[in-house]
Parts: sequence; structure tokens; C-alpha cells
Amino acid sequence: MAESSDTSKNLSPKEYKDISYEYAEEFVKECAAEFGWRRLSKNLIMDVGCGRNLNCCKVILKEFPRVKTLFAFDKDPSVFRTEEQVDKRIRCCVGNILERDSLKKFKRRLDKVISTDTIHTIYDKKLVFENVYRMLRRGGQVAFHFILDSCYYNFLTVLLEIPKFRKMYKAGFTPNMYPKEHRSVYYKQMLEEVGFRKVRSNMIEKTQPPLPNEEWRDLLYDGYKNKFEIPPDEVDEIKEEAFQIYVTRIEKYEEKYSYRVLMLSLLGVKPKYGQKSKKTVR
Ligand SMILES: C[S@@+](CC[C@H](N)C(=O)[O-])C[C@H]1O[C@@H](n2cnc3c(N)ncnc32)[C@H](O)[C@@H]1O
Repeated sequence: MAESSDTSKNLSPKEYKDISYEYAEEFVKECAAEFGWRRLSKNLIMDVGCGRNLNCCKVILKEFPRVKTLFAFDKDPSVFRTEEQVDKRIRCCVGNILERDSLKKFKRRLDKVISTDTIHTIYDKKLVFENVYRMLRRGGQVAFHFILDSCYYNFLTVLLEIPKFRKMYKAGFTPNMYPKEHRSVYYKQMLEEVGFRKVRSNMIEKTQPPLPNEEWRDLLYDGYKNKFEIPPDEVDEIKEEAFQIYVTRIEKYEEKYSYRVLMLSLLGVKPKYGQKSKKTVR
């Protein structure tokens, strides 16, 4: 999860894998229930931003072992460099969901497009929705699951307002990545403008209760340490300072959490018959 499941940034790689897999699993089950998925034995499905763990593909294979083909799609070729034996029903595709040229071969071919933990990392979401619309056949389904707000991002924003932390920062940062007005209705309307129908948009807050301070401090540090150039002799001081900032300025609500993230599941269907979209889709 890039800036993504900021949630996961706080976790060890093993825990990270587990929590993203868990979210993908919950989401696939939600889609199956909402859309009434059965065997999917004739379905061509794309997982956009599949990442190196191919979480959605693996969950779909587990839940629907008769699925026809899964296109694991990612712009980063390194995610496919794995020792792991990939199931023959999964086809790995390198491409950018924002670039039409890399999507031509899928035009009007796909039955379903799914994506977890990726869309919030892409600025031009409408272009993603339009490109997905083009790749789906009529009656095809789209299912996105992504972050709308994150305590971890808010924490980073606050840290970067402090000159001492700003000076040490070495990573990229997108200001106002999760505008407050970009919530459920905003994305539902965007999907409808692109031409999707039967759009369902559902926000859910995921939280984790506070840990003992020592553990919480370390977990937080694991999440941000690679973004900062921290002199070794200042690590303890920085850890404590950042932790105090987190517990006083980020989780300052009555009920404290070690992390809190607001997520959206956004589902829609491409109309079966030549219904016109509100806006012409290129
Ligand atoms: C945070 S990972 C999510 C992995 C996986 N979907 C999961 O739920 O664990 C986001 C992935 O999206 C990919 N990605 C980001 N922007 C993309 C784009 N424009 N086109 C295709 N893949 C993209 C990244 O390379 C990364 O592998």
C-alpha cells in the first residue's frame, strides 16, 4: 500500500500482508454478496494495482476456484518478480491504468474489474473510472475499495509542519491527499457521470485499539522511519517526540485508537444496452 494503507505502514511486512489480504477478502465477499457472484467460470476479471501479493486474485481463486481468468494488472513490473509459483489462471500484465495504450487489448472484454488499496494513490480518479468503463463489456461490474482518510497521513502532515521534521524528510508527499469533500456521494456521482449505473457507495471506518505505549511508539516509528533521515543518536528522542505528537494531535478524541482509517467501497455496473452516460466517455 503506497501512501496507502497507511494503516499497514505501521505493521511488519508479515502483518501488512495479512491485513491487506484480510481487507481484500472482506471486499471480495462483499462484492460476491452484492452482485450475486456464482462460479465465475466464464468470467475475465482484472485486479487493478494487484501489488506483489496478488491479494484480490488469490482471494477470488480461493472463493471461486472455477474462475476463468484473472488479469493481475500493475504498473510496476517488479511486483511480478517473485519466486512464488503463480496459478495458471492468473495472467500478469504490466500497464498503467491511466494510459489507454496499455489497455487497448482489454477494450470491452472484461466481465469484472476489481481494485483494493490502490485508487487513493492515483490523483486522476475520473480517468481511472473512464478507462475501466471502456475495458468492461456491457453489463460488466466494477468494484473499488480505497482509502478516503487516514490517521497516518494526517500524522505525516502534522510532522511536516514542524521545521525539525521537515528538514529530515526525504520522501514524496501529496498535500491534501484526502479532501474532506471527497467522500461517498462525491465518488458515487463521479462513477455515475462516467456512465456506470446501480452505483453503491459505502464508507466504513476501520480502527485498531491503542497498544501499550512502548509498542505503539515502535510501531509508529516503523511506519515513518524510512521517510526521514534520522541521525542514529536521535532515534529515541524522535520516537518519543513523534509519539507525543500522535497521541495529542492525531488521536485526540475521547476514544483513542492506534490507527483509524476511513475506507470506501464503490460498486457499479456498465449498462447492458446502449444507455447514454451523463457525459460522453472517450
Ligand atoms: C498499495 S498496493 C495495493 C496492492 C493490492 N491491491 C492489495 O490490496 O494489497 C498499490 C499497487 O497499485 C499499483 N499502482 C499504482 N498506480 C497504478 C497505476 N496507475 N496503474 C497500475 N497500477 C498502479 C502500485 O504499483 C502498487 O503495486
